[in-house]
Amino acid sequence: METQRLIVDNNVDSKKSYSQAVDLLNRGELVAFPTETVYGLGAVATNETAVKKIYAAKGRPSDNPLIVHIGTFDELENYVDNISDKARKCMGAFWPGPLTMIFKVKPNVLAASVTAGLDTVGIRMPNHPVALKLLQKLGKPVAAPSANRSGKPSPTEGIHVEQDLAGKIPMILDGGATGIGVESTVIDLTLETPVILRPGAITKEMFESVIGQVKQPTHIEQKAGAPRAPGMKYTHYAPNAPVYLIEQDEQQVSEAIKELQQQGHKVALLAPQSFEHLNSDWFFTFGDSKQDMAANLFHALRACDLTAADIVLATVTSTDGVGAAIMNRLEKSAGSKWYTKDFQEQ
Ligand code: TXA
Ligand code: MG
Repeated sequence: METQRLIVDNNVDSKKSYSQAVDLLNRGELVAFPTETVYGLGAVATNETAVKKIYAAKGRPSDNPLIVHIGTFDELENYVDNISDKARKCMGAFWPGPLTMIFKVKPNVLAASVTAGLDTVGIRMPNHPVALKLLQKLGKPVAAPSANRSGKPSPTEGIHVEQDLAGKIPMILDGGATGIGVESTVIDLTLETPVILRPGAITKEMFESVIGQVKQPTHIEQKAGAPRAPGMKYTHYAPNAPVYLIEQDEQQVSEAIKELQQQGHKVALLAPQSFEHLNSDWFFTFGDSKQDMAANLFHALRACDLTAADIVLATVTSTDGVGAAIMNRLEKSAGSKWYTKDFQEQ
């Protein structure tokens, strides 16, 4: 199958691109599109045959449910039961935006594969002009996981989607770099005290200012308990070379690079801009603020695969604010491995 990548932005007349995308979706085909977090790989969420194609194209395990994207508030009650006050408050505060809420699903409306056998469904209204326009023109719910091959970092640019899925899907709507760069916060509002299943740009503090107490289990607590967001248990975000975490400390990083190179390793360093002068074999910037780091993280991880690096060193950040989302992704990409002095590959 040939994959078309169509640029959709204010400088080109995109009418035809949207109508082609809508036609493809209506015919049960897949279309990748930008959201404000990462690119999604969409199929009409009521079409079981179409939704199954998502799992096939991504190589995604069939027990990992998909997020349903909607273009208007009113649609929500077509798909879910029991919209609580807290959910309504969150919708008011954070939709459209980088927030997925888990609800009890209405039976027999969405394709069975969307929910992967659960009695709940994750729904989000994205805040990206291309995503919203596509959803509103289509007028149907769109199931869309991140548009990467399963296990790889999520795509934040149209070209990332092409790298992973060319030949497997008919169309990519390319709206440029996504902006936020980490996937939406997933919160389970079916519980008495809501639980953040996946941290994102809507932070614990932001929820608490709107609905009171919410729980955000640490990485370790999440690993120990039964995974409530099934996707969280799989290997994720990993470049080909192993990733090791290291403190954001110039001296430590500099010594680590030296030691690794003495051992014959080729090192890619992912770190703030001010670390560029260190002697790594490749350097990819995280930028300087946490916002930059979220936006650059997946690009930097993906860039490692275009080098001959056999070790990736990535500097960490604190877990305040969006740092929780960044560290959640970074720990997964590293399989929680830290660089230690007298390095031996794990
Ligand atoms: O920002 C995003 O959320 C992007 C864009 C495209 O919208 N989508 C995305 O989808 O990241 P995906 O499939 O890569 O991640 C969805 C996560 C997975 O960890 C999945 O297990 C969890 O949400 N999830 C989906 N439905 C769920 C449910 N009913 N209960 C618990 N977790 C659910
Ligand atoms: Mg994903």
